[in-house]
Amino acid sequence: MALVYIAVGSVTGTASAVAQALAARLTEAGHQSVMDGQPSVEALNASQADAVLICTSTTGRGDLPANIAQFYVELEEQFPLQNGRPFGVISLGDSSYDRTFCNAGALFEERFLELQAAQPVPRVTIDATETVTPDDDALFWLNEWIEKAL
Ligand SMILES: Cc1cc2nc3c(=O)[nH]c(=O)nc-3n(C[C@H](O)[C@H](O)[C@H](O)COP(=O)(O)O)c2cc1C
Repeated sequence: MALVYIAVGSVTGTASAVAQALAARLTEAGHQSVMDGQPSVEALNASQADAVLICTSTTGRGDLPANIAQFYVELEEQFPLQNGRPFGVISLGDSSYDRTFCNAGALFEERFLELQAAQPVPRVTIDATETVTPDDDALFWLNEWIEKAL
């Protein structure tokens, strides 16, 4: 049994709904999760999680949703080394924003790699123009992540 900290970045609720589906699947698989809609380094550290998931949309022109932006800044400022802790990124976006498609997820991926976290499965991108079932796409990815990360 592992504990997973799920940091959520969402503007209109799609990524939050996906994160809820991820949490439910983790429970089904016998794990625990903490889903955080106002993620912070302090909460991540306090959780003592075995692994981290970032589930975020992209807004503006490649920007982070407001509720997760501070977390990104804190990761840069506090630089909490992850020492091989597994992480994964579920990145929601819209490919009609071709230059900034899923940029928020890409930024978090870069940051966690800098922090020496382990990435057992590459980041998944979920394109709003291609799917009407973002939960299913995320859960498909999660199954592999659970096998390799937990
Ligand atoms: C104002 C606005 C700006 C957006 N900008 C981007 C963007 O730069 N890149 C991208 O991949 N998706 C962009 N999107 C698409 C969203 O990321 C996508 O619709 C996502 O599913 C929304 O998830 P949320 O409801 O959790 O915020 C934008 C959407 C809106 C409404």
